[in-house]
Amino acid sequence: MSVDHHAEHPTGISRWLFTTNHKDIGTLYLVFSFIMAIVGGIMSLVIRSELWQPGLQLVEPNFFNQMTTVHALVMIFGFAMPAFVGLANWMIPMMIGAPDMALPRMNNWSFWILPFAATLLIMSLFMPGGGPSGGWTIYPPLSVQGGIGVDFTLLAIHMLGISSILGSINIIATVLNMRAPGMTLMKMPMFAWTWLITAFLLIAAMPVLAGAVTMLITDRHFGTHFFDAAGGGDPVLFQHVFWFFGHPEVYILVLPAFGVFSQIIPTFSRKPLFGYASMVYATASIAFLSFIVWAHHMYTVGMPMAGELFFMYSTMLIAVPTGVKIFNWVSTMWRGSMTFETPMLWALGGVFTFAVGGFSGLMLAITPADFQYQDTYFVVAHFHYVIFGATIYGLFAAIYYWLPKWTGHLYNETLGKWHFWLTTIGINLTFFPQHFLGLAGMPRRIPDYALQFTEFNQWSTVGAFFTIASQLIFFFIAIRAMKGGAKATDQVWEGADGLEWTLSSPPPYHSFAVAPKVK
Ligand code: CU
Repeated sequence: MSVDHHAEHPTGISRWLFTTNHKDIGTLYLVFSFIMAIVGGIMSLVIRSELWQPGLQLVEPNFFNQMTTVHALVMIFGFAMPAFVGLANWMIPMMIGAPDMALPRMNNWSFWILPFAATLLIMSLFMPGGGPSGGWTIYPPLSVQGGIGVDFTLLAIHMLGISSILGSINIIATVLNMRAPGMTLMKMPMFAWTWLITAFLLIAAMPVLAGAVTMLITDRHFGTHFFDAAGGGDPVLFQHVFWFFGHPEVYILVLPAFGVFSQIIPTFSRKPLFGYASMVYATASIAFLSFIVWAHHMYTVGMPMAGELFFMYSTMLIAVPTGVKIFNWVSTMWRGSMTFETPMLWALGGVFTFAVGGFSGLMLAITPADFQYQDTYFVVAHFHYVIFGATIYGLFAAIYYWLPKWTGHLYNETLGKWHFWLTTIGINLTFFPQHFLGLAGMPRRIPDYALQFTEFNQWSTVGAFFTIASQLIFFFIAIRAMKGGAKATDQVWEGADGLEWTLSSPPPYHSFAVAPKVK
């Protein structure tokens, strides 16, 4: 008797609602993250439009602050993190030869928390009293004052945190238990390694944020005074707790992208990754060091000199393992037969862009210099280079690299290159002038500015619209590849590492009915 395998899984809306399939959940994560990118992107255009010229034009100052806050929260928790959890869902089981994630039902839940959390977060802006205005760092006293919109935001952050902890547990359980026979840890593709380390980082960091958020909630509603100086508390305490989460959070965003670069650069250099083991150790030491640098975000609160020196040197220390990674990538390319297909362009553009952000990060780490840069547009320029370099470039590199595998169709290489170059021009036009604005003293999170800042702000605004308009090319490419086009082979990229290439393109709904052979 033959079995109809298609009858096993539902179709239509219930396929997506009740899915326990890692590929479907990966797709849900990616689609959700792109919707969030559009929401956050529209907010950034409102910000840049208001800053087109001095004075108050489009939005109220309060709303400007609240929307800037929500822009960051949407981009970090709604776009960047879910996008890479989506990639992990899609790729890790296929790369390590597992039939699915270890905890498929929990996987469904960790995704479906997200749309509700995001709805709360975005709705907060339209509540009486408005949304959160303390910045994405939700600093008190502003985050203790605010109306019900702030409660919406705090609850949303709790939910987003639960979702990413569940996702991390799943990734750890999968990598540690579900590898095909012969797939030892030191044979794993680097993307699986960086995600394994990132998942531990998430499990260590997110509960700290949850603690800070809970303390804010009890300060708001239950009469505690953790962060209220009048009641014997201290708002600086919040900054310490927040940044103990907040700095590792940066590496949560960055490390999976490093994993993507480590997959792509060897493929298009036609050489194995240089320094595999040192790449693993560098990733782990970046993760460890990220927990002992937090106060570099708060040099100006009045720390003892010994503290300032400690956080300055520990921060600079992170440049060592990061340098190891960049050295390994360059050595991988050295004397390789390099070609520059779209994924390689995004990977190299990402390493370069991240390095620019890394260097301005070193400048910010210098304590006395930071007294000048603190809370200026220099910081805004710095972290956008870091986050764009890793997250945006890493994500697009990954998508172009694996899209033929996912859809079974090749994408349009010429349009992909156009997408890369226009985005690169747009991003640099947006954020490079912000270095100069910050050095000249323009403060961040303020809807108005002094006349002499106008010109650089206008470059920046033009760049923002240019960048976002360029993304239309991507949507065109992605939708076209999903609908059809030239058939992709199973291997797609010759010599590429990872068991995903042994599956058909697109892969079957249930991959690896039989455990694959590992060389
Ligand atoms: Cu930091």
